[in-house]
Amino acid sequence: MSKVEKGFVVWFEGLPSSGKTTLARLLERELRNRGLKVEVLDGDIVRQYFSKGLGFSKEGRIENLRRIAYVAHLLSRNGVAVITAAVSPYQEARDRAREMIENFVEVYARCPVEVCIERDVKGLYKKALAGEIKNFTGIDDPFEEPVNPEVIVDTDKETPEESLKKILAKLEELGLLPTEESPAEEVYSPEEEEMIRKRLEDLGYL
Ligand code: ADX
Repeated sequence: MSKVEKGFVVWFEGLPSSGKTTLARLLERELRNRGLKVEVLDGDIVRQYFSKGLGFSKEGRIENLRRIAYVAHLLSRNGVAVITAAVSPYQEARDRAREMIENFVEVYARCPVEVCIERDVKGLYKKALAGEIKNFTGIDDPFEEPVNPEVIVDTDKETPEESLKKILAKLEELGLLPTEESPAEEVYSPEEEEMIRKRLEDLGYL
């Protein structure tokens, strides 16, 4: 017997070093443990594969996000829990993703830029501040404050586990996670149906 899951997209957004990837990986593990099919589309990885060479101009970023949204749409409509983790700095791009995706859950990893600079996970803020990287989000490129995120996690105040709990609570509230009361819909394959039919027939029920 297989389970049909309700696909959805958790769309993280936030400054570089705000904690998107950390939370995406924690959420991925948790959802897998709950038996869901999960895919993560992380900005850095996506840019190595299908957005290589796009760059970080407004147009390049919007195109990158358009591609991520499209793949997320394809996967989620087939029952996959998709987690995206791109900076996603433009409201226009988030709105378009929301329009394209049925179960869209926007999560804003909010963190003051000073804290992100201190964390500087990849050492890129240092380079941006030294003028070695141009158009770096938070330094000399915009990050538009999200207008209607389903969840805001304050990653400078909460532990990753606390943030994860908030996200899971929202997914539960939206009915996107299988629960004891409403488990994922059970569906029989044609072979299983045939087997059941035969068994019922043998028993004289049909
Ligand atoms: S987005 O703006 O199109 O959503 P995306 O998440 O794919 O960005 O890529 C951001 C990642 O690219 C950052 O985490 C960082 O590692 C790297 N990066 C390189 N140059 C820049 C830049 N100018 N601005 C932001 N991130 C950059």
